[in-house]
Amino acid sequence: MIDPTIVDYDGMIPNNVGLNADPRLRRALERWHPGYLDWWRDRGPEGFQEKLVYLRTAISVEPEGWAKFGFVRMPEYRWGILLAPAIEDRKIGFGAHKGEPAWQEVPGEYRAMLRRLIVVQGDTEPASVEQQRHLGVTAPSLYDLRNLFQVNVEEARHLWAMVYLLQKYFGRDGREEAEELLSRRSGDRDSPRLLGAFNEATPDWLSFFMFTFFTDRDGKMQLHALSQSGFDPLSRTCRFMLTEEAHHMFVGQSGVGRIIERTCQAMRQAGIDDPNDIERVRALGVVDLPTMQKKANLHFSLTLDLFGSEISTNAANAFNASLKGRYLEDQIDDDHLLLGAAYPVLRLKDGHIVEEKVPALSALNMRLRDDYVADAASAIERWWNRIIARAGIDYRIRLPHVAFNRRIGEFAAIHADPDGNLLSEEAWQRRRDEFLPTTADNLFIESLMRPVTEPGGFASWIAPPRAGIDGQPGNFEYVKLAG
Ligand SMILES: [Fe+2]
Ligand SMILES: [Fe+2]
Repeated sequence: MIDPTIVDYDGMIPNNVGLNADPRLRRALERWHPGYLDWWRDRGPEGFQEKLVYLRTAISVEPEGWAKFGFVRMPEYRWGILLAPAIEDRKIGFGAHKGEPAWQEVPGEYRAMLRRLIVVQGDTEPASVEQQRHLGVTAPSLYDLRNLFQVNVEEARHLWAMVYLLQKYFGRDGREEAEELLSRRSGDRDSPRLLGAFNEATPDWLSFFMFTFFTDRDGKMQLHALSQSGFDPLSRTCRFMLTEEAHHMFVGQSGVGRIIERTCQAMRQAGIDDPNDIERVRALGVVDLPTMQKKANLHFSLTLDLFGSEISTNAANAFNASLKGRYLEDQIDDDHLLLGAAYPVLRLKDGHIVEEKVPALSALNMRLRDDYVADAASAIERWWNRIIARAGIDYRIRLPHVAFNRRIGEFAAIHADPDGNLLSEEAWQRRRDEFLPTTADNLFIESLMRPVTEPGGFASWIAPPRAGIDGQPGNFEYVKLAG
């Protein structure tokens, strides 16, 4: 019997899935590995591949103390296959198979649906690495540079996690899907990544922090929903990925928080009370708060599209099949079948946004999105608005209405302002620049993107963090750029 908490570090691939005892899987992974390394070199972080970076690596899967910190060159990072410890006698918690023992093998009738869920999740992981690959050269500090690379290697490990499931449980078509995960490209016209937000550019560090705040948070919600899965290997994989996801969201919420903090500080020092006095605030070399709001509007609305259509038979089928649950399904007090239940959904009716009760099974995307919105809203209060309030500045970052700037679902065909008021095409064109970043806004942000590479130094537009990574002091050299 393999002890699932012990990680085998001797082989090429750190793992707690007994890889040495599974020659077929081992061969499949070893065949995939060179292509993966090519992908990392070609599409992973540009430059810095030979530099030593202070990264954490998973060395155990126990909830506490799984991370070991040390200097590594990124191509030598020990990407591994790590599953959260098995829960003994785990039972399926929802859907048609509720109460049955969790599946250790793929149920034949759901094979295609399950593979699709894994491929869609898997596709997002390398996509974000590709989106962020140019950011290293403009990092505002070595601390931030290190955090970027930590997020990148962990997203790449998430790719490994999904590839493991495909190769172990889906035979030849799983292996083909694993190859295709390396061949699609974020933003590529011919072979794009599967989901829209993962084909958008991440051109600057404000975008990166907003992305990790808003879009990695979608990742958190999806992983939570999949961690409820009746297919136990998927559940265990996602549970372990969530421990890493927490750091990605920390990078986003603290990153934006530090930009806000610096802006408020600079405004105070210059005696500027009016946050909308954009020219004067920008002249201080910091990002004005209204531009932060516009960036939040953009990233929030792009991320909402990732939840898919409000009414969805795919989502109902995946729940019924006991493959994908709700957020914190095991903590919800209901029958976990949802057969006669209803759920309120915002819909477009006769040119108005109205709330309508629909069968709860068909509204699972909506429910996950609602949970996401609540999670994001509370993080904004705790992490961002508290900083602004403490500085005594009269401004609040807030989430735009869910109908704002959408490409998918009920509101894809209409325009709405951030308060949810419907706008004509003409009014939208006229007012769009009030709500979303303009070319001038983006050029201003770009003008701030000058790298700071001396240990302990930070760019003018971002405050230092409260504490170092792994308790390191403020002047710690997180990335060794010399030599
Ligand atoms: Fe991820
Ligand atoms: Fe992430």
